[in-house]
Amino acid sequence: TEKNTTFPKNFLWGGAVAANQCEGAYLTDGKGLSPVDVLPDAAHGRWDVLANPKLAMEKTFDFYPSHESIDFYHRYKEDLALMAEMGFKTFRTSICWARIFPNGDDQAPNEAGLKFYDDLFDECLKHGMEPLITINHFDTPIALMKNYGGWKNRQLIDFYLNYCDVIFKRYKDKVKYWLTFNEINMLLHIPFFGGGIDIVGEEHPEQIKYQAAHHQLVASAKATQLAHEINPDFKIGCMLAAGTTYPNTCNPKDVWAALEADREGYFFIDVQARGQYPSYSKRFFKENNIQLELAEGDLEVLKNHPVDFISFSYYSSRLTSADPEVNQKTEGNVFASLKNPYLEASEWGWQIDPLGLRTTMNAIYDRYQKPLFIVENGLGAVDQVEADGSINDDYRIDYLREHVREMGEAIEDGVECWGYTPWGCIDLVSAGSGEMKKRYGFIYVDRDNDGNGTLARSKKKSFDWYQKVIGSNGAEI
Ligand code: BG6
Repeated sequence: TEKNTTFPKNFLWGGAVAANQCEGAYLTDGKGLSPVDVLPDAAHGRWDVLANPKLAMEKTFDFYPSHESIDFYHRYKEDLALMAEMGFKTFRTSICWARIFPNGDDQAPNEAGLKFYDDLFDECLKHGMEPLITINHFDTPIALMKNYGGWKNRQLIDFYLNYCDVIFKRYKDKVKYWLTFNEINMLLHIPFFGGGIDIVGEEHPEQIKYQAAHHQLVASAKATQLAHEINPDFKIGCMLAAGTTYPNTCNPKDVWAALEADREGYFFIDVQARGQYPSYSKRFFKENNIQLELAEGDLEVLKNHPVDFISFSYYSSRLTSADPEVNQKTEGNVFASLKNPYLEASEWGWQIDPLGLRTTMNAIYDRYQKPLFIVENGLGAVDQVEADGSINDDYRIDYLREHVREMGEAIEDGVECWGYTPWGCIDLVSAGSGEMKKRYGFIYVDRDNDGNGTLARSKKKSFDWYQKVIGSNGAEI
């Protein structure tokens, strides 16, 4: 007998990874270098290099976690079979741009790279999983950074579109769901990941970042146009690193600060979903002395080609104050947030707030009235392998259960949501810290922070739990 479920019949349950954090094979079959390929692990200064990318060019490190990673490149068949066993209806990954265009500006695409994704998508389809594909997940080829300065250079729009043209045509009948840029607002926080940009020593970094943002927003709109021309059934989404900001107190100044903090991210989605720069951007640009260079037709392209749906990652809510003294970065890594006394935090200081997901979903849906897709959510934690090989990750099950529950509540609230792909459904290299120890998966991978391990896969307790969730379409959590 079917149980009551709030989830739509065709709800896309699945999981998410990204090429740069799982594939490994960093030079195989003609691949060029990606940003992660020049980054060491946390113990050897990953954060320093992220903040100052020149270090990556000057120094050679002993160990680069991405070079082998979990070797998804050679093991994806086994991995996808496990995901199919959980019942995945969709699988989110990204295409590595430097596999297709190793230098970014090559005349012709690299056939071996294209072939790899053909096989990968065929394998997904064989298992009845819709591929959900991020076109650029922190993955602007290093060559485009070195030779063109990354996304601060307008030429990147054409290179990106050329890449899109190739993959849209090639995978026209295999991939329907596309995301133009992963966590597009990350450009402001980690410009190296977000845009292959080095702002160290720049006189006016904000100008550079927002100009690069403009280039990406135009590229995203043009890609949306192109996608719809190539296949009118394509669904194109934007992708926001989301998480509603709460005011630290009911002091109206704190409330205002929280609104402004949220606008920092919404700024991007306002353009991608509504097709124009938000009204508040005028004042923001003026007060920060930012002058966008627009080319003829830019605003028209933005206007005419908004996205079809809004995807986002949600790990945590945020908390802010208007008082700079109070407002110090205390928890989490990328997004500054105060410690919320009502919330517990993960071992990495990410605060756990399931109801915040419902709030965030309602806020985004109220704002844009477009379908949502939760493409990242999850708990990075240390897992213990027991003597019998089992991994009892009840903390992960608890985290996910409460978030699935609140997602269901948001759907009951009237929010249209197409699917849910928790992050790192198989353990992979952390983007921020480069660790393996920070695990998100339902599937365990035998590899440690230093690259030791057999790379063997095994099922955690959460594997069975998620299988049941999907099997009951969210009725049994
Ligand atoms: C998001 C990214 O920021 O969060 C992923 O889209 C990333 O690439 C994920 O892995 C989790 O962050 P971390 O630092 O724990 O890997």
